[in-house]
Amino acid sequence: MTRLRLQQLTKLYGTTPAVQELSLTVEPGEFLTVVGPSGSGKSTLLRLIAGLEMPSTGEIFFDDQPVTHLPPQARDVGMVFQNYALYPHMTVFENLAFPLRLRKWKREAIRERVHSVARLLGVEDLLARRPGELSGGQRQRVALGRALVRSPRLFLFDEPLSNVDAQLRAAMRAELATLQRTLGITALYVTHDQTEALSLGDRVAVLIAGQLLQLAPAAELYTKPVSVTVARFIGTPPMNLLTATVRHGKLSIGSAAIPLPDSLWLPEDSHWLLGVRAEALTLSASESMHPLGEVRVRAREYAGHEVLLALEHPATACSPLMLRVAAGQPCPQPGDVIPLFLPPQGWCLFEPESGARIFPP
Ligand SMILES: Nc1ncnc2c1ncn2[C@@H]1O[C@H](COP(=O)(O)OP(=O)(O)O)[C@@H](O)[C@H]1O
Ligand SMILES: [Mg+2]
Repeated sequence: MTRLRLQQLTKLYGTTPAVQELSLTVEPGEFLTVVGPSGSGKSTLLRLIAGLEMPSTGEIFFDDQPVTHLPPQARDVGMVFQNYALYPHMTVFENLAFPLRLRKWKREAIRERVHSVARLLGVEDLLARRPGELSGGQRQRVALGRALVRSPRLFLFDEPLSNVDAQLRAAMRAELATLQRTLGITALYVTHDQTEALSLGDRVAVLIAGQLLQLAPAAELYTKPVSVTVARFIGTPPMNLLTATVRHGKLSIGSAAIPLPDSLWLPEDSHWLLGVRAEALTLSASESMHPLGEVRVRAREYAGHEVLLALEHPATACSPLMLRVAAGQPCPQPGDVIPLFLPPQGWCLFEPESGARIFPP
């Protein structure tokens, strides 16, 4: 198992950085996902690690070995792309055998290895077919097999499931995670799909405009985003933001006054953004809940296991405010005016200028 370490990695195209002073370590056997919008530098990052691009500055290490100046074939990396990149005129067998032929493996050894990988991926019956005769899922499995056939030190995945239809995607996601764990191969997986990133990764890195904004286990990323940018990027819906001002030692939000946690002191008249998830807000009063005032329901989105309500609140910094109501709970209608409550914990405070989280510490 290999530890991948990136040290202050920068890649400039002209004067524009696609990847900017990026440092991170993927632990041996870890499945690390990187999530970022299109154009944020995800593919560039993988291409740098694979040796298909040279960094402008910075170093790449596999364990303690610097590989920054090694050619791709000397790095022993298995890469899986979005568009599979299978050879259309070759059979599945030939596609799987190709990386081994390049490395001058013996005929019998190739046969054995291809069959064992095909068995592992459940494509043994398909060895004689060409990629054109396979379903999307089967093709994806073969592409995975081709990355796997050499037992690489590292797996690099570049949005490998984005061309697979939604139902199959969930199944393949589970399969991929199981397979990676079984093989114990260190993996870096990039995607623009945050659901995929959160569900697959041991840890998740958020990459925006070439910069690594946060690297944390999925649950921490979700509950304690390091900044407003991450809070608004992660989660469906993203975290709600309310403008708050400190008045008489309380957080004044619209007409509501929320007591500050004991551990937190903030100067009078200072301004903050309070971030709260859609499922943390509630409609039911209980002793520990703090009233946030009355809100009007603007719209309602039914999703089977839950209903999402869009609410009008005078202090919202990201209109509208979103509230999640679990299935089976009483749920108001658009146009209704209802009281809203904030729990005593489970929310964050951000500094409005820099966007940095200041609470919880
Ligand atoms: N070969 C290239 N030449 C110039 N600019 C490039 C090249 N490859 C990528 N870029 C630019 O670098 C940025 C990051 O691209 P990319 O790594 O493909 O992002 P992602 O995979 O996250 O969509 C984009 O602004 C893109 O236009
Ligand atoms: Mg890309």
